[in-house]
Amino acid sequence: MVPWGPVLGALLVVIVGYLCLVGLLRQRRPQEPPLDKGSVPWLGHAMAFRKNMPEFLKQMRAKHGDIFTVQLGGQYFTFVMDPLSFGPILKDVKRKLDFVEYAEKLVLKVFGYQSVPGDHRMIHSASTKHLMGHGLEDLNKTMRDSLSLVILGPAGPRPEASRWHEDGLFHFCYNVLFKAGYLSLFGYTKDTEQDLLRAEELFTQFRKFDRLFPRFVYSLLGPREWLEVGRLQRLFHKTLSVRENLEKDGVSNWIAHMLQFLREQGVAPAMQDKFNFMMLWASQGNTGPTSFWALLFLLKHPEAMQALRKEAAQVLGEAGQSFTFDVSALQRTPVLDSVMEETLRLGAAPTLLRVVHDDHVLTMASGEEYRLRSGDIVALFPYLSVHMDPDIHPEPAAFKYDRFLNPDGSRKVDFYKAGKKIHHYTMPWGSGVSMCPGRFLALSEMKLFVLLMITHFDLELVDPDVPVPPVDPQRWGFGTTQPSHDVRFRYRLRSPE
Ligand code: HEM
Repeated sequence: MVPWGPVLGALLVVIVGYLCLVGLLRQRRPQEPPLDKGSVPWLGHAMAFRKNMPEFLKQMRAKHGDIFTVQLGGQYFTFVMDPLSFGPILKDVKRKLDFVEYAEKLVLKVFGYQSVPGDHRMIHSASTKHLMGHGLEDLNKTMRDSLSLVILGPAGPRPEASRWHEDGLFHFCYNVLFKAGYLSLFGYTKDTEQDLLRAEELFTQFRKFDRLFPRFVYSLLGPREWLEVGRLQRLFHKTLSVRENLEKDGVSNWIAHMLQFLREQGVAPAMQDKFNFMMLWASQGNTGPTSFWALLFLLKHPEAMQALRKEAAQVLGEAGQSFTFDVSALQRTPVLDSVMEETLRLGAAPTLLRVVHDDHVLTMASGEEYRLRSGDIVALFPYLSVHMDPDIHPEPAAFKYDRFLNPDGSRKVDFYKAGKKIHHYTMPWGSGVSMCPGRFLALSEMKLFVLLMITHFDLELVDPDVPVPPVDPQRWGFGTTQPSHDVRFRYRLRSPE
């Protein structure tokens, strides 16, 4: 009989010893950024980072300045906090900073999708063709019709719709945006009622995955949660399976284009299902939460709601009475654009990551040069270093619906830091090679949703004095943040005037 206790104990000592040694061996080399390994071997600062990412980074910035390297779970991350120094990282003319390497590992783990050569470029070219410009016009109409279908139901407005309904605002927004977005991109069958029921069920499962997602990425799930994640992955692969969805109508050109590429590359159908899951996640994980923050800010700021309703009345005119107004109106809404930009400034908190290939020198805006080490990861967190910088955005924590408007009502694009005009004055979509290719569609669908809600519904918070909830600390760094708890609200369909 093997004495397992001492064997496992010895193994643990060897592993911990090895990890401590690796950590101890790493020393700051000449010209490298300040190195902060933290006090816990291997884990480094992982606990403080996960507990409250912005707070941790603020402390590190106060201690080390605008660039520093920290250890997080055995990996070294170099954070660059000065937005005037972002240019060389995002442009990366020397091609030393790699987005794809990190992303490929992540999507394999999270969605089970194994990348094929050229797919990253293909996603961007399919998106340029179908999620921007002319390609977007048809999709906007589909999205408008899907939103009205989801909000009003297949039979259109019913008498009970003009009675007050109560719901959680976060749940309501996420649910509506998810169902409308999913149906518009992945298509309908001939049975719309069934489609809506299936979309509802899919949303329930999506939220289960969404809740586990941050700890899944950090590999911090308990055994039961691991099993649950596996079950959810299989469920999504099956529900989005290319074989089972052959008979669907109106699969968006975007999805169809990308699947055709994968077929031409000889990618197996089972892997195409996993690709679909990845695209469902990318396309539906942020629009609902962002729309929640937008409606909540509007409900907490009556002056903003009033300005927006005035603009909507002017832009939509008589057509605003109908749910099927002309989507070209979306191009004439500077106030709504400013509301959305301000919402994204406050609500979007992605981390941009690049793996360093070969040692590489980064020149900061100050002229200082820093040597980045091959294998480390360069990280940007624009929420803290751009969105919340009081020099760029005075009173950064406040929601100001007209922050992105000039006095003449046009879009404001001139922002300054230390007296210098700044190019990246908000970065909700990331930037450079990994910039969100769905950003134009995302904006249109969220704008359509907000327009429909404020023009057709009376909306109010159940408790008008309820404070804006804090961000769920788990969500920092993963795109749009989510609230730590929901906010109750009421809505009813307005009767035509
Ligand atoms: C409010 C809504 C959205 C926000 C805030 C958002 C934000 C982002 C960000 C920050 C990234 C870059 C991630 C990185 O650098 O690692 C990204 C990537 C991506 N987004 Fe979005 N997104 C939104 C909606 C959408 C929509 C509606 C679609 C598609 C219909 C979409 C498709 C994608 C795809 C495919 C990628 C991966 C791009 C790549 O691999 O280079 N997103 N998004």
